[in-house]
Amino acid sequence: MELIDQQHCMFCHTVDAPFLAPSFRQIAEHYRDKPDAADMLEQKLRLGGKAHWGDTPMPPPAERGGPLSPQDARTLVDWVLAQ
Ligand code: HEC
Repeated sequence: MELIDQQHCMFCHTVDAPFLAPSFRQIAEHYRDKPDAADMLEQKLRLGGKAHWGDTPMPPPAERGGPLSPQDARTLVDWVLAQ
């Protein structure tokens, strides 16, 4: 997906192997049964937030390739949660 490239998601993540960050599959499994997860993750992708997986928080959009609209953030979150 274009957004994934634009925001360099795969610089730190892969779909199925933990690398510099948890894999998207791990993330999807972790949030599978949590109904509020998509809203929380959308905020987190746009604004950043504290680390949930280790000591390293994810960098904000400005450091990843540019601003991220709410719609685009939602698209990315839906994609991640579908892995
Ligand atoms: C510079 C490295 C880096 C890039 C680029 C990056 N991430 Fe992350 N991401 C991380 C790290 C590190 C974590 C673990 C942070 C934590 O402990 O909450 C993380 C966590 C996440 C989480 C889980 C957040 C949580 O609160 O559980 C999601 C979802 C996610 N990334 C999606 C993305 C998407 C989508 C992109 C592209 C828009 C992206 N990441 C780009 C490093 C990165």
